[in-house]
Amino acid sequence: MRDVSSPMSSHLPEYFERSLIVASKRDLRQKYARLMQGAIPAEEIEHGDEPMCNHSKNPFFGDILNSRLQRRQVLKGSLALAVTSMFTAPVLSNLRTRAATAATTSMMGFKAVPISAADSVVVPEGYTARILMPWGEPITGSYPAYSVENTGAEQSMQVGSHHDGMHFFPIEGQSPYEGSSEDGLLVMNHEYVEPRYMHAAATGTALTRSNVPMLDDNTRDADQVLKEINGHGVSIARIRKQADGSWAVERDPRNRRVTGLTAMEISGPVRGSDLVQTKYSPDGTRTRGTVNNCAHGVTPWNTYMASEENWAGYFVNKDMTPANEPNQAREHSRYGVATEKGRYGWEMANNGADEFVRFDASTKAASATEDYRNEPNTFGWMVEIDPFDPNSTPQKRTALGRFAHEGIVFQPAVEGQPVVAYSGDDARFEYIYKYVSAQPYQAATASGALLDDGTLYVAKFNEDGSGEWLALEFGQNGLTPENGFSSQADVLVNTRTAADFVGATKMDRPEWGAVDPANGQVYFTLTNNTRRTPEQVDSPNPRPENQWGHIIRWNETGNPTATTFQWDLFVIAGPEDDSQKLSGQPLDADSMFCCPDGLWIDASSRMWIQTDISESVVNTGDFEQFGNNQMLVANPETGEIRRFYTGPIGQETTGVVTTPDQRTMFINVQHPGATTTEEEFAAGQLISRWPDQNPALYPRSATVVITKDDGGIIGS
Ligand code: FEO
Ligand code: CA
Ligand code: CA
Repeated sequence: MRDVSSPMSSHLPEYFERSLIVASKRDLRQKYARLMQGAIPAEEIEHGDEPMCNHSKNPFFGDILNSRLQRRQVLKGSLALAVTSMFTAPVLSNLRTRAATAATTSMMGFKAVPISAADSVVVPEGYTARILMPWGEPITGSYPAYSVENTGAEQSMQVGSHHDGMHFFPIEGQSPYEGSSEDGLLVMNHEYVEPRYMHAAATGTALTRSNVPMLDDNTRDADQVLKEINGHGVSIARIRKQADGSWAVERDPRNRRVTGLTAMEISGPVRGSDLVQTKYSPDGTRTRGTVNNCAHGVTPWNTYMASEENWAGYFVNKDMTPANEPNQAREHSRYGVATEKGRYGWEMANNGADEFVRFDASTKAASATEDYRNEPNTFGWMVEIDPFDPNSTPQKRTALGRFAHEGIVFQPAVEGQPVVAYSGDDARFEYIYKYVSAQPYQAATASGALLDDGTLYVAKFNEDGSGEWLALEFGQNGLTPENGFSSQADVLVNTRTAADFVGATKMDRPEWGAVDPANGQVYFTLTNNTRRTPEQVDSPNPRPENQWGHIIRWNETGNPTATTFQWDLFVIAGPEDDSQKLSGQPLDADSMFCCPDGLWIDASSRMWIQTDISESVVNTGDFEQFGNNQMLVANPETGEIRRFYTGPIGQETTGVVTTPDQRTMFINVQHPGATTTEEEFAAGQLISRWPDQNPALYPRSATVVITKDDGGIIGS
């Protein structure tokens, strides 16, 4: 618990003052001085985040103001203005009419569920939860049954692991939000894998959640590597509602696995650039696979976007300087490409196959077309997949930028207007981006080409509640050869460096975004950032050592293509003594949460918030009070929040969508049992056996299908 005992004040400035006092007591300055020097031991890197790579000199607010007194005075003025400006006439004048359903539907007509530490899913009274598509369920090919003995090839025909962002596409294939509510394609990301639960040979050995089984000669079994790569990617499966109300996978020619090996096209400004030329694709137009697909996106033209989030650590570049220091190009070092060994050691596969060797991006040959020094440059993108065409080639849409893409969220498309989408870069002190297409949206002809030609912007949040979108365009804002940028392809491959250069605002780990369909207001979760020092506090990131996270929101000025916006904070998450809702009141027993990650606003403007307390800390210490990861509902207008769901042990709750009628909800349980220690794993004493609860089976990520027993709208 925090060492603050008095209840939360409803005044934001006092909130910030107290945060600073708390930080001071903990002598954070000394601690963070060390961390900010870049001395970050690998064990301090939490799951879900990359190594902190932003050492740019963009000013933090604290760098500008020397005294705490000055900062307080400015915060008092700016926060009052920020809150006020959100509700003034110019901002509200753009609001679209709220969907008709909102007027007739209760925003949260359920009783809150309590926090939980149980190995089960809990939904409110009057609701039922069922399991669908656990890791390993066969969905295509020869439909091999799930077993820990499955081969790498069999995994390519089964649901992948570590379920994350997903969408239900009605089977008609016309619109992502209209059509059947009983028959469709469920498309989901698989963020990563936990090797100890994947390989029969690992049973009984002392492996942590991050370890991989190694062979005696310090190589990796090639089929284990293949299985892990095929456990990544995206699953596409036709699912249909059954007579008993449950849902089941149906055999269908559209069922498909996209994996870490699937052939993909590089599209947009980076296509053909010498920065993406490899031995596999000497002309820089193709690559293989997608990994670490976290949240997703849905285009207005009914395709699916898979993000590439923490991909950098999957690659290693061992190039050294003559002085024996790591010698990586900025397009590797600014993203955290490993210097000793890839995350799973795929480059060490004992068959030396090209598709595995490519994860070693060290310079090995005379030119880039003879080795894989550029392979990491073909990752870090948003990948567009047409789920209705199983023969389509996924497209890496480079105009959307290269970073640790959490996901992407689109503004509702308007005929004749550009397409607008937002994407967060989930690492400490990274940025929020916006893309505006060059060509207007025309429903009859809209396609992924709209994502190949447009302007990428990065957000600057001003202290006074205003904000600016700074264009990352070659030749503009100093992105010129004199400053180290040679082309738009160079700007995009080095998106983070370009954003540093133009002075973007360093955020507390931007995760999912959501757009309120009623008014176009944009929300982003900022999950946490325990490395922010008191000197680095600013009004959009108001807490030092931010371990609880918050949600920021903004309105574009005039329309979604605007280059300015007005922002405020929707909720500051945490326990009752360290949180604040829109009303100024703290969260309470029915609403307290931390580490917001998944975010979605349904057609009734009901906001769904999902949490991801890292498996390294969940249910321990300060975090024990929050129990297992959970999902809550919020009312964007009033700021009221209520807990709807709690998940099993060790998991994060992520991915949320309903059928068009809003009467079936799909969410994902990712990495149940990840909190099992290596000793417990070796002894076979697993902390979770969810969902099978079978002592012969390991815990598995799975989808949870939630229905209301009276057939009503979920949440109403
Ligand atoms: Fe994969 Fe940022 O969560
Ligand atoms: Ca997360
Ligand atoms: Ca996430």
